[in-house]
Amino acid sequence: MDIRSLGYVGVEGPNPRDWLPFAVQVCGLTPSPLVPGQDPSETGPEAGTSKDGTVFFKMDGRQWRLAVHPEEKSGLRYLGFEIASPGAFETALTELQGHGIAVTPGTPEECVMRGVRRMAHFADPAGNRIELFFSATSDRPFESPPGISSFVTGALGMGHVGMLVPDLEAGLHFYLDVLGFEESDYFEIGPGMAMHFLRCNARHHTVAVGRVGDFKALHHILLEVQNIDDVGQVHDRATAASIPISTQIGRHANDLMISFYMNSPFGFDIEIGCDGILVDEDWVPQKLIQPDIWGHAGLSAEVDGDD
Ligand SMILES: [Fe+2]
Repeated sequence: MDIRSLGYVGVEGPNPRDWLPFAVQVCGLTPSPLVPGQDPSETGPEAGTSKDGTVFFKMDGRQWRLAVHPEEKSGLRYLGFEIASPGAFETALTELQGHGIAVTPGTPEECVMRGVRRMAHFADPAGNRIELFFSATSDRPFESPPGISSFVTGALGMGHVGMLVPDLEAGLHFYLDVLGFEESDYFEIGPGMAMHFLRCNARHHTVAVGRVGDFKALHHILLEVQNIDDVGQVHDRATAASIPISTQIGRHANDLMISFYMNSPFGFDIEIGCDGILVDEDWVPQKLIQPDIWGHAGLSAEVDGDD
């Protein structure tokens, strides 16, 4: 299956507009000037907000990369993986059906609300909604209000996600054998507990799948910036805004990312990092003992399960 990148992420929880000060003033995203489904001639009720209360954020030339949907319960709503062509999209659907996975085509209305030409969705073994799409919408070049130079996206996708699942074996089978990700490395946390780092392009990992107990949860979403000054400036703004820093700055041993983690308005973490390595087909998967070269005090796989 020819998944090129993580194209977009949808999260959900109460009061999506709580994300505006966090995502814009702290992280450096911008509200989408035109949200999916909005007629260019009509002005939206509020910046980045669609009629159903979803708030869309830009981090590059794409119309949006992160959507925050209104819902009582908070957590991950969907991951959108990008397929490069209509032919590859059809092939992917056929492969999924061959694995016995129930695939639902996105309705025309759903495709409009994602700003994509075509989309289909299904569930991973933990029940997370996975969407495949091709042909996203671009609008205008990205300009970050607080001065982030730019985010590292393009062929590498919007970043990565770390997910906790109750059945690690089933999760790994799904992402590796069904969706065709490659394993970059892994480390063991304890008996029956581990984190595995999986890639679909040169970014060291686009999905981290781990198990620390019998629950599923979105642990974090990484947004990668250009350099350590960008990371430091986001850290300064987070501190000034009294955003809880859940993991202090440090450098991971696997992707060599220098990063820190902070609490999003919905509880799961946003990781802000730079200097992530690129890997190619010569990369040999390895087991890690020490997950960090330095720092990252406070990093743990502990979250509130959303099931
Ligand atoms: Fe991460």
